[in-house]
Amino acid sequence: MNPEDMRLRYYGDPILRQKAREVQTFDDLLQRQADRMYEVMYENDGLGLAGNQVGLLQRLIVLDVPLDEENRLRMVLVNPIILEKSGSDTAEEGCLSIPEVRADVTRPDRLKVEALDLKGEKRTFEAEGLLARAIQHEVDHLEGVLFVDRVSPVRRKLLEGRLKQVAQEHAAG
Ligand code: CO
Repeated sequence: MNPEDMRLRYYGDPILRQKAREVQTFDDLLQRQADRMYEVMYENDGLGLAGNQVGLLQRLIVLDVPLDEENRLRMVLVNPIILEKSGSDTAEEGCLSIPEVRADVTRPDRLKVEALDLKGEKRTFEAEGLLARAIQHEVDHLEGVLFVDRVSPVRRKLLEGRLKQVAQEHAAG
């Protein structure tokens, strides 16, 4: 996919419900697609973005997550696999594809992750806190899962109106 054609997709777009495919080719195009994803993410003040969200059905994630007051971690994950999960934490999430919707989501808060970088080199690392949350949120996207699928049924019911609104605003635009 041409990076110029990659633009933010919103709730209601069927691509957000599709499963992304594994990246097979580690070339200049992949690098430019990741660059474009960072561009879209920063334009929208996000801290993570998955391929599906820009119409690219590839297992590609970009992240730029604050670790503490001074440090951020910027990284690209290709074909990520969550090897281990433990702990539990509840915190509010949002999503660039679902503007103005925020809700509490409970997730494991410690992970062991395996992923490739843009050169196809494999890394295994541990993540916790906000980074662990962001990785799980983005890996969900690659499976066609959205954070609103993980909120309590009562809360989900309260969000339905706004979700429909988002879908309508961006339908066939
Ligand atoms: Co999201």
